[in-house]
Formats: sequence, C-alpha cells, structure tokens
Amino acid sequence: MPRYVALVLLAACSTHEPPPWEAYEPWSDAWVLAHAETYVGDREARRDAMEASLTNPENLYGQARLGAYGLREGGWDALPEWQPRVEPLTDAHVDALVAGERPARPTTPFWNEETPTTWDEWSALGERVFFELPLRDEALWEPVVRDAALAARVGLVKDGDSWPGLVWVASVDGGATVGITCALCHVGVREGALEVGRARRELDYGVAQIESAERRGVTLDPVTRGRFESWGPGRADVIEDVADTPIAIPDLWGLREQRLLTQAGTLTHGDPMALAIRQETQYVQANRGRTRPPRVLMFALAVFLYDLRTPPAREVSDAAAAARGEATFRRECVRCHALSNGAGGLVSTAEVGTNPELGDGSARGTGGYRPSPLLRVVDAAPYLHHGAVESLSSLLSATRDEPGHDYGVGLAEDEKADLLVYLGGL
Ligand code: HEC
Ligand code: HEC
Repeated sequence: MPRYVALVLLAACSTHEPPPWEAYEPWSDAWVLAHAETYVGDREARRDAMEASLTNPENLYGQARLGAYGLREGGWDALPEWQPRVEPLTDAHVDALVAGERPARPTTPFWNEETPTTWDEWSALGERVFFELPLRDEALWEPVVRDAALAARVGLVKDGDSWPGLVWVASVDGGATVGITCALCHVGVREGALEVGRARRELDYGVAQIESAERRGVTLDPVTRGRFESWGPGRADVIEDVADTPIAIPDLWGLREQRLLTQAGTLTHGDPMALAIRQETQYVQANRGRTRPPRVLMFALAVFLYDLRTPPAREVSDAAAAARGEATFRRECVRCHALSNGAGGLVSTAEVGTNPELGDGSARGTGGYRPSPLLRVVDAAPYLHHGAVESLSSLLSATRDEPGHDYGVGLAEDEKADLLVYLGGL
C-alpha cells in the first residue's frame, strides 16, 4: 500500500467516523443492511461484535470463539472459504439411490460471488442459503430417504419433489452425498402446510441415527443407542462437545425483537453482526473447523431470518375470556415475558426451577434461561427448553411431574381457562 493511503486510512480511523448504521432507526431494514459492509470487511469490528455477543464468555461456546474468531492472524478467519457444489435433493436423486445408483456429482458452485445491494436481493440469497447451503454432509440420511415410511416416521417432509433441509452435495473424495441445511430443523408443518421458520417438531434425529445405522450394518454401542432413543422428536443435541443435552428446536419468528438468542440466552443479540457471526461460526463448527462459509452468505442468511413472516395468529373464539386472560397474563407473567413477542431478559435457573443442565452447563450455560417467546405458542408444544411439558394446560397444572416454571399453577380453574384462551390467540 502506498504510504499516503495508509496515512489517510489512519487519519480516517482516528477521527472516529460514526458507524454507517447510526443514521437509521434501530432494527429497520436500512439499519440492518448498513451493517453488511462492516461485518463482511472489517475484522476488528467483527471481533468486537463477537465479544459483545457472548452472554457468558466463560462457557465453551464463548471460549471457542474468543480463541479462534476474528484474530489478527490464524484462527477461523484463515480457513479456506467453502463454495460447495450442491443442488436440492429431489425425487430423481432418491429414485437413483433406491435403484442402487449414485446420482451425478453436482458441478455448479453455490454462489456467483455477487454481493446483493437491495433488501430483497439479500433476503433472496439468504433464502437459498437457508434451504441449500449444507452445514455438513450427512450420509446417514441416505438409507432414510430410500425408505419412504421411515422418512415420514422421522419427520422428513416433501415440498413438491424436493426434500426441504436435504441437499445433494459434492464431497471432497470426488463423490457426492446427502447434506443437511437449516431447513431440516427450521421448516415445520402446521395442518399439512409447510411453514418456513416453524420448528420441525416431528424431526426425530435419534431414531434416524438408529435406523440408519441398522440399515448400514453399523452396530451402535448401547450408550449411544440409549442417548439417541432418549432425544424424542423436535429435539436435537446441537452441542458438538458435550454428551447429552437435547434442546427443543425453537420457531424463528420475531428475531429482530429478540435480545437473547437460544434457550439459555447464550448470545446477546445487539445487532445483525451478532446473528451473522452466530451463523458463520455454526457453519465452521458443523464443518469441524475445516472451512468457513463466505461472509456475504452469512449476512444474507441473517437478513432472510429477519425477513421471515410470522404466520397468522389463530382466531380467538371468546374475546371476553381472552381479555380476562390478558389481565391475568399482565399480573402473573409479563414481568418476565415482557417484550412484545413474549420473550424477556435472562431468568436464573434457580428462580425458574426447570432442569438446570443446559442453563448452568459448561457448554453454553449462562446461569439462566430466556423467557421463551410466545408468538404462536399454542402451536409450539412441547414446551420449555427441553420440550418436557406436552401442553399449555399441563404447564399451568399444579400436578405436573416436570419441575419448575410454577407460574400460574395456583390460579383458579376459570382464570386458567381464560389465560389459555388468551395464549391461544398470541
Ligand atoms: C439439527 C437441527 C438444526 C439445524 C440443522 C439448524 N438448527 Fe437452528 N436451532 C436448532 C436448535 C435445537 C436450536 C436451539 C439451540 C439452543 O437453544 O441452544 C436452534 C436455534 C437457532 C436459532 C436461535 C433462535 C432463538 O430463538 O434464539 C437460530 C437463529 C437458528 N437456530 C438458526 C439456524 C440457521 C440459520 C440454521 C442453518 C445454518 C440452523 N439454525 C440449523 C436446531 C437446528
Ligand atoms: C420469573 C419469570 C417468569 C414468569 C413470571 C413466567 N415465565 Fe414463562 N418462562 C420463563 C422462562 C425463563 C421460560 C423458559 C424456561 C425453560 O425453558 O426452562 C419460560 C417459558 C414459558 C413457556 C414455554 C414456551 C415454549 O415455547 O416453550 C410458556 C408457555 C410460558 N413461559 C408461559 C408463561 C405464563 C402463561 C406465565 C404466567 C402465568 C409465565 N410464563 C410466567 C420465565 C417466566
């Protein structure tokens, strides 16, 4: 770099230019997009944003990032960018697999390397990332898609002739296999229709692993098998490095309002960089630290998540009962479920009293749980961070077995009934 350019740059830094987003209303589309260039191009700003996003820098999640993300030299920034050759998995691939053939290896790179300029372009690119950019390849799904009954049993879904969440991806060894994307866990079904952003509560990863192993002639040791059996549908152990903490998959609506991400509030969501970094580092870890995703794609993914539309609320049958229920909610619940989407600030595990393993755990623990968002909560069963309570009435029941979150259990029966009507319309 010529000397005068360096001097000009130095001068620009020392005058403390206001950040490009300062001119906009926080969380507006323009404010979100104004972070793109800084996230993609400014390592130091990314490092700062990562540090600011760690609710508890001491846990393993925080330590891994502090040790490897946004370093001046080496670490995850130095990994090669992964531009996979990939296509959506379709019936044509599956038919070939059933016939004992290997479908052709995809040849088109995922992305043309053009940076979007408008909101809609960013969101459209992010949608492709969400559905098609594999977190990693997972050959375990091959025997599952070959058996339609098993595929349905473990919660795979079809959209026309494609399989949302599954792709066909070229592998390093010159072949190709099935890969998984965000849509595997974050596209769900309500009354027969697919909804993007809804948790895939039918997905039974554990049974998929067991059945796939059997079909491939792999013998699982009893401990591993027991773990897979214990997960149940709609829960996934997304923590790579600890034994067994299956977590309920959350719905992804209303993320712009969410100041804490994940059930234990592991991330503080102060700006879009926090979410883009979450996704970037999720890809790195899913790939076991071998590659990193292009950052433009991670920002696009964040924009797409912010752009997700919450499906319409259900009709409330009895407006008077809902109004009474709302009054109860304000009295008993809103001190924690304070935001307009129902979420709120961290509550200590001791206070909420639910199973503390995740919240106090060394992996992602923060000492607490975030009050769950309550958007469309009536369709979000089972409840709590580990999906341990099967219905809203059971959550409000004084005779429930699962400990913790005792709020409202002492209400009179008619008050509970009204509260349930109110919750049903959220
Ligand atoms: C194997 C299933 C699975 C896949 C695949 C998956 N997720 Fe998730 N996702 C989860 C689970 C489980 C959680 C809850 C984690 C926790 O609370 O610690 C979660 C949490 C999240 C959250 C936090 C939401 C909130 O309310 O705080 C976001 C955002 C998210 N996922 C986005 C994505 C994106 C984007 C992808 C693709 C890159 C993806 N997920 C892939 C299962 C999955
Ligand atoms: C002291 C704070 C606090 C109060 C008061 C409180 N909640 Fe919660 N709520 C939480 C926390 C924290 C969680 C998440 C706990 C977990 O996952 O282990 C939660 C979870 C929930 C969930 C689960 C949602 C899901 O998708 O899993 C529902 C439903 C809920 N609360 C409803 C209520 C209602 C109704 C009231 C009032 C009767 C109430 N809460 C009062 C803190 C509170």
